[in-house]
Amino acid sequence: MLGTMSLEKAAAIRAMKGRESIPVLTAYDFAMARLLDECGIPLLLVGDSLGMVVLGYPDTTHVTMDEMEHHVRAVARAKPAGLIVADLPYKSYETVEQAVTNAKGLVSAGAEAVKAEGGRDILPQVQAIISSGIPFCGHLGMLPQHVLEEGGYHVKGKTETEREALLADAKALEEAGAFGIVLELVTAPVAEEISKSITIPTIGIGSGKHCDGYVLVTTDLWGTTPGFIPKHVRPKFEIAERMRLAVAEWKMEIRQRP
Ligand code: KIV
Repeated sequence: MLGTMSLEKAAAIRAMKGRESIPVLTAYDFAMARLLDECGIPLLLVGDSLGMVVLGYPDTTHVTMDEMEHHVRAVARAKPAGLIVADLPYKSYETVEQAVTNAKGLVSAGAEAVKAEGGRDILPQVQAIISSGIPFCGHLGMLPQHVLEEGGYHVKGKTETEREALLADAKALEEAGAFGIVLELVTAPVAEEISKSITIPTIGIGSGKHCDGYVLVTTDLWGTTPGFIPKHVRPKFEIAERMRLAVAEWKMEIRQRP
């Protein structure tokens, strides 16, 4: 059962709309959560992107509930001041019963809110999660859990049909009581239109500069994601290079030991 503190944190994120831009980053373990907390990040997302950047899967469709719970527990041990939101993984919210059971599982592991991908197609699940007292964050646009059926990661909102569908999905999630919506790879004009037409914050990723908040996969920001870095990311620090240098330096040091 969630305490009032968690509900207040979700309400505080919602109330940030129109007042300040919301910075959101992904956290996958204790050390990352501590560091992001020290930086005052108000929402830590235990995203199923961890499947790709931590566990080495080719996409997020391989991530299990057990894996999500394991990482949520690690993040929760850092006791961050920001809201811990956890992704419901692939096929963990196919029915209303499954969605509520798994959302509760993530909450038992330490999550304070959950996120799932979809709009009107998962509305009964969203309504049931919210009715069970768990704050919910939507996710629209390019949905990584659909990568296999869609044959890749495609920008959404380019056609009038897609624009209308995104707007209707965003409205439906707002009416269901979601406290925010991630917009991933939505065209900038459509992301702006959605942001202006709903009262809950949009959290953009690769969706232009007119969202209410922005989210990044933290390892993309740091430049430590192995392999592919998406187009919308400009890593701030070459931390990976510094890590390699630290290892090389240490290797030299121990070689020189008698
Ligand atoms: O899994 C994740 O990290 C996400 C963000 C990219 C929004 O859903």
